[in-house]
Amino acid sequence: MKQVKVFLDESEIPKQWYNIQPDMPTPMSPPLHPGTGLPVGPDDLAPVFPMNLIEQEVSTERWIDIPEEVLEKYMLWRPTPLYRARNFEKLLDAPVQIYYKNEGVSPPGSHKPNTAVAQAYYNKVFGIKRISTETGAGQWGSALSMACKMFGLECRVFMVRVSYDQKPFRGLMMNVWGANCIPSPSDKTEAGRRVLAENPDSPGSLGLAISEAIEDAVGNEDSRYALGSVLNHVLLHQTINGLEAEKQLKMIGVYPDVVIGCTGGGSNFGGLCLPFVRDKIHGKELSIVCAEPTSCPTITRGPFAYDFGDMAQTTPLLAMHTLGHDFVPAPIHAGGLRYHGMAPIISHLVKEHLLEARAYNQIQTFEAGIKWARSEGFISAPETNHAIAAVVQEAERAKEEGKEKVILFNWSGHGLVDLAAYDAYLSGKLVQYDMPEEEIARALKAIDGLPKP
Ligand SMILES: Cc1ncc(COP(=O)(O)O)c(C=O)c1O
Repeated sequence: MKQVKVFLDESEIPKQWYNIQPDMPTPMSPPLHPGTGLPVGPDDLAPVFPMNLIEQEVSTERWIDIPEEVLEKYMLWRPTPLYRARNFEKLLDAPVQIYYKNEGVSPPGSHKPNTAVAQAYYNKVFGIKRISTETGAGQWGSALSMACKMFGLECRVFMVRVSYDQKPFRGLMMNVWGANCIPSPSDKTEAGRRVLAENPDSPGSLGLAISEAIEDAVGNEDSRYALGSVLNHVLLHQTINGLEAEKQLKMIGVYPDVVIGCTGGGSNFGGLCLPFVRDKIHGKELSIVCAEPTSCPTITRGPFAYDFGDMAQTTPLLAMHTLGHDFVPAPIHAGGLRYHGMAPIISHLVKEHLLEARAYNQIQTFEAGIKWARSEGFISAPETNHAIAAVVQEAERAKEEGKEKVILFNWSGHGLVDLAAYDAYLSGKLVQYDMPEEEIARALKAIDGLPKP
């Protein structure tokens, strides 16, 4: 029998996260205070995040110990298995070996609890009682709801309206874990009321939901905000996955030629890829590919610029690929990829030509996801289908070139709460949504006049 899964023994779980900052070939542009134009200091961020997470955000230590309490929670589903997708390989009939990390085995069904558990822990240790957050597809909101319950914290989630309507079961999962889930735009905040006044039917966006959650959190001594992607500390926590993958591949004597992940804010991609980016910085030859939607083509069509992380301009200015902070992406089912910006770490690595990005339309991604489900069995999250579309493309290229390739990708989550999206695909109602050039130009007006990195 041929091997399909590589399991890492529980005792082999990585005990430290990997911080890429000290290995960056050039320094990253710092986040700026929008008022002064100067780099933000820890005190500027203190009303929003607990100081222990701010310290991680700016840390230049290469390795950061994972607290025992966090490891204990990780053990509920980690180490996650590394799979070889033998059935998919057969279907594609190309000279490729395809490996993937199955992050869908976590209780909420995605990679998101890797950072949710860590963030809830650090907030708890800092004396925080309540966390507010945003969520797109609901994977992050449900992960944080579970993590908050584990550490005895209250949790309030602003869920992007279109996803709230498309995925009612995600909100219910949050309720099961004891959290409060509110559709955004909401009348609970100034930012939400402003948008509702202009457009009562607004589908919402991650940029707006972030504004609502920050507004809800700040000004209250024992509440803070948590972000499920984009920031350095989030990508840091996610590296547990790439570090496990490195060990698992070593166990079977394999090294990838191509590493792939889908990118919304960059966290599952960063988590798998950053340990391999370190190898690339040190001379290894491999391609590392971000897969994003054509309807929200942040890296492939957005400039590298300073922009706000949210619509209401409450965050510091981040140097990143962006489509403009008031960009409202089309209501694709991959709600977790509907974000105007990209993690500064990922953006910087793209600028340094260490990563490349490709965009796929919604129909292509579901075609790939259906092929996957009908060969490998697992039903993927719509976000994850972008990574699978990139795998299909890589396999086709390998076939054309007659070259053997080892592909590793992040199966970032299951789609069992996203079946309405599959229904739309199967009944021919799924819309392709591409982005006209004029729409990008219009959205980018929002960053006119902001400092340049
Ligand atoms: C399953 C899944 N994959 C990917 C993403 C994209 O987020 P990120 O780029 O932070 O990994 C999300 C976000 O909600 C998600 O739920």
